[in-house]
Amino acid sequence: MDKFVILGGKKLQGRVKISGAKNVSLPIMAACLLTREEVCLKDVPPLSDVHNMMKVLERLGTRVYFDNNNLKIKADVIRGEGPPVDLVSKMRASFLTAGALLGRRGRVKISLPGGCSIGRRPIDLHLKGFRALGATTEEACGYICIRAKALRGDRIYLDFPSVGATENLMMAASRALGTTVIENAAEEPEIVDLANFLNAMGAKISGAGTKVIRIEGVEELGSAVHTVIPDRIEAGTFMVAAAITRSRIILDNVILDHLKAVAAKLKEAGAELVEQNDGSILVSGENCSRPLDIKTLPYPGFPTDMQAQLMALLTLARGRSVVTENIFENRFMHVAELNRMGADIRVEGSSAFLTGVKKLQGFPVRSTDLRAGAALVLAGLAARGCTEVLEVKHIDRGYYHIDEKLRQLGADIQRVKMEEEEDTAAGEAVEHSETLNLIENTAAPR
Ligand code: UD1
Repeated sequence: MDKFVILGGKKLQGRVKISGAKNVSLPIMAACLLTREEVCLKDVPPLSDVHNMMKVLERLGTRVYFDNNNLKIKADVIRGEGPPVDLVSKMRASFLTAGALLGRRGRVKISLPGGCSIGRRPIDLHLKGFRALGATTEEACGYICIRAKALRGDRIYLDFPSVGATENLMMAASRALGTTVIENAAEEPEIVDLANFLNAMGAKISGAGTKVIRIEGVEELGSAVHTVIPDRIEAGTFMVAAAITRSRIILDNVILDHLKAVAAKLKEAGAELVEQNDGSILVSGENCSRPLDIKTLPYPGFPTDMQAQLMALLTLARGRSVVTENIFENRFMHVAELNRMGADIRVEGSSAFLTGVKKLQGFPVRSTDLRAGAALVLAGLAARGCTEVLEVKHIDRGYYHIDEKLRQLGADIQRVKMEEEEDTAAGEAVEHSETLNLIENTAAPR
């Protein structure tokens, strides 16, 4: 029930460390099911999605725990037929256990993950790939049973370079007989990191990061120690934080090469990104006010996971921008909320047409999904007055202590719990009573 209360208009300064990538931690945790031996993962962020994946693994009989900053996982036995339905419905990424369990045991029963707030999100490409490896897939009563007497390598062409399907197939194919070739594979850095991890466990994968991935099946996978790559979406979000507040900040633990499309668009808008001698990135957003045209695409194109944050920035650009979403069918939920803050955005089909405004106005808004929530926090940092971002649980799925990190940079952002609100109602003094009053007195700009 937490919410963020942000008093906008503060310049940011200083440095912030980017956490390990959520979108690589989850598939790598699933991949640990491929071995009986203990695996040690470094830099996995303790996010709510990571805790949910820990629960999935625990319910499958795996020993999984944080030992300081190291996540230790040992799946010496596997219990049950697959991950429990309550956890699969909570987190789509738990479907990534399908490829690992199929590879380890030749069978898995898993509930269908269903859609989410950003679209339908089918799994047809995962299933087509499993079938190409010799598995049968049978759907009944909301579950899917995937079975194979023996997985056999084959050529698999993906109609779309799905990240999840590429990951699931790499995991299953690592234990197949013979060689698998995935064509039109996803090329995201997360795919490369998963392949590096699987190779550290003893797999033989080449070509990850290109459209064609080759996997020679092996009989056994073993223990490994692996450090996950930095979260490129968290890094991109902090870059936009500097740009939207026209500030200068330094980011540690960033691989700029993973952010080529985002960096190119921020530079086009007027930002400067300079790699320092120590490897950190100096982001100067003082003059970041030019409008942009953005189209989301599979990597190395512009990432759909940065679309909402860039849109927040473009609400304040000097001129008109167009943002086209090509990956997910319903990923403009943040538009209505940004318009409530005074933005001028019109959606037609898969494109959003923006006319930059001089100021956003703080307002109570609701985050509907992870990146939409991040966009609203960014808008709140730049808005006049107070912004309340409700449903912070979506943001906590993918950003480790975003409020603390922003405060460390000088932002005025507080996490308010329901109980604190009740305390306020009872007349007790709270740190942010002034801020809360401001919210009550802020009229909707339109
Ligand atoms: C991953 C990321 C997510 C990111 C997305 C696209 C994780 C945990 N999540 O999600 O943050 O937004 O990549 O970069 O890494 N599709 C099908 N059939 C399938 C699979 C996918 O039609 O079997 C479609 C989807 O509906 C969507 C598109 O392909 O329109 C991309 O999906 P995909 O690349 O699979 O995304 P995820 O792996 O779910």
